[in-house]
Amino acid sequence: MHIAVVGTGYVGLVTGTCFAETGNDVTCVDIDATKVAMMQSGKIPIFEPGLDLLFDRNTRQNRLHFTTDLKEAVDQAEIIFLALPTPPGEGGAADLKYILGVADDLSRLITRYTVIVDKSTVPVGTSEKVHAALASHLSEDLFDVVSNPEFLREGLAVEDFMKPDRVVIGTSSERAKKAMQHLYQPFVRQGNPIIFMDERSAEMTKYAANSYLAARITFMNEIANLCERVGANVDMVRIGMGTDTRIGKRFLFPGVGYGGSCFPKDVQALAITADEYEYDFQILKTVMGVNERQKQILVEKIRKYYQEPLAGKTIAVWGLAFKPNTDDIRGSTGSGDH
Ligand SMILES: NC(=O)c1ccc[n+]([C@@H]2O[C@H](COP(=O)([O-])OP(=O)(O)OC[C@H]3O[C@@H](n4cnc5c(N)ncnc54)[C@H](O)[C@@H]3O)[C@@H](O)[C@H]2O)c1
Repeated sequence: MHIAVVGTGYVGLVTGTCFAETGNDVTCVDIDATKVAMMQSGKIPIFEPGLDLLFDRNTRQNRLHFTTDLKEAVDQAEIIFLALPTPPGEGGAADLKYILGVADDLSRLITRYTVIVDKSTVPVGTSEKVHAALASHLSEDLFDVVSNPEFLREGLAVEDFMKPDRVVIGTSSERAKKAMQHLYQPFVRQGNPIIFMDERSAEMTKYAANSYLAARITFMNEIANLCERVGANVDMVRIGMGTDTRIGKRFLFPGVGYGGSCFPKDVQALAITADEYEYDFQILKTVMGVNERQKQILVEKIRKYYQEPLAGKTIAVWGLAFKPNTDDIRGSTGSGDH
């Protein structure tokens, strides 16, 4: 298939490269000309284990292309992925200006039936907004909008994309469903499911998953704080707990609060969605509050240790990213997953 990926960050570049690896012709487009020039000269702008190998193979075999020209990228595309940033905007809600801006551009460029896929993490109802932006200049029978949230983990992005636990696809169009099923078939050969649902449920699934994981880390941070008071060893408690198959071992590592480029903004965006729909989402509010407090605990411990003002002290921080094997230090505070 001919695929276009708009935005070549951690999600877009991995998505584009992995779709090329399964034989598709992929054009990735980005407004960052320096980044695009770098990729055109065969260099990867991010660190992600295993990505270099796939990137080299697919660029050499002419299945993976890079451009700054949106028209060139979408000219032949049957499916266009939006892997654009959705940072917190004013008030903390996900800012949709990148997504809706590109949707508006696409409404003037598309000339035949195309599936437009939201790969970014976007609040419930965004696919309807993207649909409206596209419909401003485009006949409705020339496009479908699909929500296909991405669950890859930085540091394991290629592995997660090539062998996903599941693929979630939100669409109410049979035609788009068929195209997406065809594209994803090589990634689900081992029986991992493609789960079809409506657009709103797909959008919510991503926020629910990230918020639940953030809540697990937060719960464990509270257990760690209590362990210190009662004289228990949280590492032993974690092992004792995590070996219970109902609980599982992952996302139980206490630390200086969850961080990274996704959890903080996604938990906050879900809390704002709850507010908008007048739902008092108490657990989520507590998770955010406890996480902020957790970041201070390290400083309190350092203060207590020195028992004197910290001004003038040199402090070394070992490891800047929120977890191993990534160079993404956006929103980095501590670790949650190992
Ligand atoms: N990073 C992750 O681990 C991860 C995982 C799952 C989902 N997500 C979600 O995926 C989305 C993208 O995240 P990311 O980490 O890849 O972001 P990123 O910041 O790494 O990449 C976004 C890219 O989009 C480009 N861009 C901005 N405006 C553009 C435009 N108008 N046209 C073309 N390109 C444009 C930027 O230059 C940048 O290269 C976000 O919604 C994020 O929440 C991220």
